[in-house]
Amino acid sequence: MLQADPHLSCTMMVGMNTKSPTPVAVVTGGARGIGLAVGQWFLEHGHRIVLIDTDADTLRQTVDHLARSDDVMGLHADVSKPEQVESAAQQVMARWGRADALVNNAGVAVFKPVLETTFEEWRYVLGTNLDGAFLCSQAFGRIMAKQKSGAIVNIASISGLRASTLRVAYGTSKAAIIHLTKQYAAELGNYGVRVNAVCPGPVETEMAKLVHSVAIRSDYIDTIPLGRYGSPQEMAQTVGFLCSSQASYINGQFLAVDGGFDASGVGLPTLRRNDPEIRHVGQPPDSSH
Ligand SMILES: NC(=O)c1ccc[n+]([C@@H]2O[C@H](COP(=O)([O-])OP(=O)(O)OC[C@H]3O[C@@H](n4cnc5c(N)ncnc54)[C@H](O)[C@@H]3O)[C@@H](O)[C@H]2O)c1
Repeated sequence: MLQADPHLSCTMMVGMNTKSPTPVAVVTGGARGIGLAVGQWFLEHGHRIVLIDTDADTLRQTVDHLARSDDVMGLHADVSKPEQVESAAQQVMARWGRADALVNNAGVAVFKPVLETTFEEWRYVLGTNLDGAFLCSQAFGRIMAKQKSGAIVNIASISGLRASTLRVAYGTSKAAIIHLTKQYAAELGNYGVRVNAVCPGPVETEMAKLVHSVAIRSDYIDTIPLGRYGSPQEMAQTVGFLCSSQASYINGQFLAVDGGFDASGVGLPTLRRNDPEIRHVGQPPDSSH
């Protein structure tokens, strides 16, 4: 349910039916992690932002922390619920009258063996990761199609590019999002709306803490040429680029932002063992600019 908390919904409807002069970016799962970094990127690049999330407490803290009440709207909504998505789109239009970017970032992960994954777990993951992107792209895509402009970025994963253990629901949902991206691009492109996907490698967030055991972390670092996890800011910069005019002819594509994971195959750990000069790269560059 959408809350009547003025922090987390647009019950005041300032400027109702007046189009904001400032572009508006909508980020699902924006209360924390990659979604929050994406929201901050848009704020720093002249947008108003709408953060949609199911975690009301974290969302409220995030909106308070950003301290930009004229430019930040928090909406407590579940992207897997059609009526809540529709209501969110209506609230954005009522307050700011436009939607220029949509980032389908809300996602959940259940890592379990194929033979132990329950149907409920499968539906939970597919419901959020895939249904959510379908529903939000439809609700906000309609607005963008009317505007004849806009950009959508879907946050997929390297787990959608390469199958791996324990990811039957998660990996399948992410592979499906990549194709969903192309389906939307094929139709919304006719209205001047571009749709692309980003496939992050492992990124230091709460989700990673939840599903990346010590062994999985070590496997990733062993297998990634850059030898480290990515940062939320590195994902946000790529999303921002894809939504910007610099990417004005990019439509229907997916881009792995993964330190080289998808490009590489066997041999890297052996190479490192045999060449003492090769060290892990360490921290990401300063991404505050
Ligand atoms: N962290 C990684 O290593 C990694 C790697 C590849 C892809 N991704 C993808 O990046 C996206 C963000 O991941 P993160 O690591 O920042 O995760 P996170 O768990 O830190 O944040 C996800 C946010 O989405 C919200 N959310 C979950 N279900 C929702 C729903 N139904 N409706 C609205 N909001 C919902 C959560 O409350 C949370 O705030 C996800 O789609 C994830 O699959 C993450």
